[in-house]
Amino acid sequence: MRNKSYLSISLLIVLPILSALWLFIYSPSPIPGLIVLLWTGAAGLYFYHLNRRHRAELEAVLTLQRASVSALVDLAQMRDHGVTGSHMHRLTYYADVLCADLDLSPELRDIIARTISLHDIGKVGVPDRILNKPGPLTADEWAMIKQHPLAGAMVLDSITEDLTITNPEALDYLNIAKEIALYHHEKWDGSGYPMGLKGEEIPLSARIAALCDVYDSLRSPRPYKRPFTHEEAVAIVKSGKGTHFDPELVQRFLRLADHFAAIWNEHGELVGNS
Ligand SMILES: [Fe+2]
Ligand SMILES: [Fe+2]
Repeated sequence: MRNKSYLSISLLIVLPILSALWLFIYSPSPIPGLIVLLWTGAAGLYFYHLNRRHRAELEAVLTLQRASVSALVDLAQMRDHGVTGSHMHRLTYYADVLCADLDLSPELRDIIARTISLHDIGKVGVPDRILNKPGPLTADEWAMIKQHPLAGAMVLDSITEDLTITNPEALDYLNIAKEIALYHHEKWDGSGYPMGLKGEEIPLSARIAALCDVYDSLRSPRPYKRPFTHEEAVAIVKSGKGTHFDPELVQRFLRLADHFAAIWNEHGELVGNS
């Protein structure tokens, strides 16, 4: 899309310059060539100004977007007592490590790392008594918890609809945030929820989020479980290769496990560091 607009602007500048050159060479008077050159200069300045204004507007939209996302994440965290802000930060680091190893484009890598913290945004729709229940959940309570990916996708959809966003970068951001929110509980073998997608039907962003989220949740202290050691967490992720997780991502994770451990050691919660 952006390449297309650069191409059309280049054509608008290059073609008149070529025409001016042709006029200088073949016209008996230099005036038509000068007029075309002046016109080209004015058009160039106009496009430069337009481009700067567009960049400034985009920057403002992205700043607003980051602030809104961070407010949404804070809101979700305030309700879910078992999850802390540092869990979200660590996910950003893990996702970046995996995305770099996958050689994803810098844009996609940045979007996945920034939107992964929205994975549980749909939990704002789950009642407190269920979200923070210390004991085991009933079947009905589980059914309500399992609605959170759909609720998260709806929240993110409503942002796109309400703001009538048309900028492709902002749309990519929201689409990937939605993929992660909606599909982070899907499993490679199709036994996950809410859609029961299988293998590569699950978007890559959500497969990355699932692995990072499970590793960090295993390492973290939660009201219903003790924190697992790095070795225990790695063994559990490894046992989910091809069933819970994308086998290729697990291969990469095993190779990068030291990086995951280093991120936990630097940013992990104190109880989990033991
Ligand atoms: Fe979740
Ligand atoms: Fe999580």
